[in-house]
Formats: sequence, structure tokens, C-alpha cells
Amino acid sequence: TPTATRDLLLSRIRDVVDHPSPGIVFKDITPLLADPEAFTALTGTFAELCVRFGATKIVGLEARGFILAAPVAVSAGVGFIPVRKAGKLPGATLRQAYELEYGTAEIEVHAEDLAAGDRVLVIDDVLATGGTAEASLELVRRAGAEVVGVAVLMELGFLGGRARLESALKGAPLEAV
Ligand code: PRP
Repeated sequence: TPTATRDLLLSRIRDVVDHPSPGIVFKDITPLLADPEAFTALTGTFAELCVRFGATKIVGLEARGFILAAPVAVSAGVGFIPVRKAGKLPGATLRQAYELEYGTAEIEVHAEDLAAGDRVLVIDDVLATGGTAEASLELVRRAGAEVVGVAVLMELGFLGGRARLESALKGAPLEAV
């Protein structure tokens, strides 16, 4: 990403201290979404990755990942596949559990949305511990599809997400803006 674009995008992410609980600095992307220049730049950056990686489908991770991923899919002319928190999707799903700091969570994808031969770019807003992204890669692979990359707006390096994802990536690139 060109430095000016990167600076613009990062300047539109607001740090909210002690949200949703004490000690957490929440990364609020709503200023970026409200700025058409920034949102368009981000969508364009992700769409370029989609082309570079030869992706044929975009997977977005609920909920903020949906907002970023859907316009990329439209712009790149590929399908958008939602990975949702468990219990939301009405059809036959694949479900994947993953560890949180306290407890576990589960995400799901419609089984019919991914198949062998699909080349998938996974998009989310923030990579924190990497648990959500790691579980989404498992889902994509269990569906028989290939992961060609993971793209996030921001990586919180101190939480070790990149290291946690490394084996799940199997050599696919992890790109942060
Ligand atoms: C946030 C963020 C990522 C995930 C990153 O989503 O949007 O999806 O957490 O955390 P991790 O790397 O530690 O897994 P959240 O669960 O808050 O959901 P939301 O987008 O629905 O608010």
C-alpha cells in the first residue's frame, strides 16, 4: 500500500480506550467507513489483492469484516461468502470452534457456498489473537476450497495473531494495509 494511502486509512481508525471493558483499546473503523475517500481506497487496495492472488471468492468475517469484504467482492466481480457466528445461518453449515482468552466461540459457513476449485481471499477488519481468522481458514479448507490469502485492515502485532495463523496459512500471504 502506498504510504499516503496507508496514512489516510490508519488516521481514520479511532482508538477507544477501555471499550468494551477496562484495559482494552478498541479499534473503531466507523470514521473510515464514513469517509468515502478512505473507504474507496481500502476497497481498491483489497480488490487489487483479490486480482493479484487470483481469488475467485471473498470470505468476510462477521460483522465488521462483512462491511469491508462485500464491496470488494462487487468491485472484483467475485462472490461474497459470509462466515457467521454460530446459529445465524439457516442452511446446512460447517461449524468450527476456536479458543478465546476465556472460553470458546464457534463460527459457521454454508457448506454449499464453497467447493473444491474455489480460490478464497479472507477479509476482516482487525487481526487480534488470530483465533477468528484461524478458524475461518479451517472452514474454507474443510469445505474443500483453497485459501489464497488473508487481508486485514489492521494487525495488532502485540497479540501474536500472525504467529498463531502461520501454520493455518500454509504459505498463503497475510496482508495488513
Ligand atoms: C473482532 C474483529 C475480528 C476479531 C479479531 O470481531 O472484527 O473479527 O474480533 O479477533 P481475534 O483475532 O482475536 O479472533 P468481533 O468478534 O468483535 O465481532 P464483530 O465484528 O461482530 O464486532
